[in-house]
Amino acid sequence: MEKSKIGVYGLGVMGQSIALNLLNHGYQVSVYNKSKEKTEKFIHEKISNQKAVACNDIQSFVDSLEKPRMILLMITAGKVVDEVIDALLPYLSEEDILIDGGNSYFMDTIERNRRLKEKHIYYIGMGISGGEQGALLGPSMMPSGNYQAYQMIQPVFETIAAKAKDDQPCIAYIGEDGSGHYVKMMHNGIEYADIQIISEAYELMRQAAKMSNEEIQQVFEQWNEGRLKSYLIEITAKILQKKDEKTNQYLIDVILDSASQKGTGKWTSIEGLSIGSAVPTIAQSVFSRIISSQKEERVRISEIFPQKTIIEMEDKKQFIEYLEKAVYASKIAAYAQGFDLLKKASKQYHWNLNYGEIAMIWREGCIIRAQFLEEIKKAYETEPENLMVSDQFKEDIKEALFSWREIAKMIIDAGIYAPGILSALSYFDGIRSNRTGANLIQAQRDYFGAHTYERIDQEGNFHTEW
Ligand code: 6PG
Repeated sequence: MEKSKIGVYGLGVMGQSIALNLLNHGYQVSVYNKSKEKTEKFIHEKISNQKAVACNDIQSFVDSLEKPRMILLMITAGKVVDEVIDALLPYLSEEDILIDGGNSYFMDTIERNRRLKEKHIYYIGMGISGGEQGALLGPSMMPSGNYQAYQMIQPVFETIAAKAKDDQPCIAYIGEDGSGHYVKMMHNGIEYADIQIISEAYELMRQAAKMSNEEIQQVFEQWNEGRLKSYLIEITAKILQKKDEKTNQYLIDVILDSASQKGTGKWTSIEGLSIGSAVPTIAQSVFSRIISSQKEERVRISEIFPQKTIIEMEDKKQFIEYLEKAVYASKIAAYAQGFDLLKKASKQYHWNLNYGEIAMIWREGCIIRAQFLEEIKKAYETEPENLMVSDQFKEDIKEALFSWREIAKMIIDAGIYAPGILSALSYFDGIRSNRTGANLIQAQRDYFGAHTYERIDQEGNFHTEW
């Protein structure tokens, strides 16, 4: 029997979609899932005339593949990945390639890479973004690991990747070991911030400006025609139109304001803390989900401190203009934080990341996809100190600053919880300050702990008997 080009291990939502994407591009694909019923259901319901080979045990799955074998693992990140690797190992040959397409923690990917290298098996950690639709129609992919191994899988994955307007596939070799999963993690950190900022804009329009769903929906639709044009703004406009079948109200109004999370935003924030990169807007987005999930507590406290949302809104049109600028500037700040994290990670883990190229593969396919990424690519042509002061963005920031501050004042006055926009502005004020109060921090540290301080007029470390 003809051997398959590639095997997909795991037929969850993402596994099925990517297997179908491969099949639709003419590849013969072997599929395996722990539960045989799921494999049968997939073959029965989703496959028409494509070349899918259903396998019921791991040995026949591995044997059904062309050598060197290419196996894409589409399984939940965590311990299971190691268990699956261990189950596959006895049947693999040297130079076979395992590709982890899940949201694995990058340190795990580094360790798996090391472990499999000893066995002469290639391990590619590949972040995949785009959700179910992306996986099916063209995701954005962030592979890392051995470069020769990447070159072997490259033609297949370039074929199924999303294509940008210039027809470039949204996939690029990121670097060694865990860098692909790291970049995907950071993509998700930005995704958290992007979603947070959009939800704050929605809440401001709803609570402070007392706008109806129809009005808010129109604003997002209008924003999607301009520089904020992006997948997340586009789906926000669509979400706000949707009616609930049960109550005939807008669905958005019957959804509980308690957000969940799977952990990638948290990892990004922890990484920022751990390697010393300020990512406050990303971290605030995670905190905001935590606070949102404390619904009952919030409701109780709101009875003690009721919301005060009376704002003098004389000119709604101007408010929307201010808000657009505040959202845009906050978005730039969030991306600046994410790319600063990459810059520091690249140094820390010796990855030599190409920031412009990373921005390019996010133009289509992924959740944060937007034309805006073209600007980031251009910004990185000149290695800016920070994205916010790059030639691409500094004029936008200057122009937005007044509005950004007006919106921040409004948030404070109304007592609306909008830590994304506020932390983004505060981050900007941090990086543009030529003087902070940190001299006092140093003095206090020296006072109580003899931790020493540096002076403005002399090299070295000093201690004072206070
Ligand atoms: C993507 C998404 C994807 C997933 C998130 C959701 O790029 O396709 O980021 O990875 O939808 O993990 O994350 P939370 O559940 O943490 O919001």
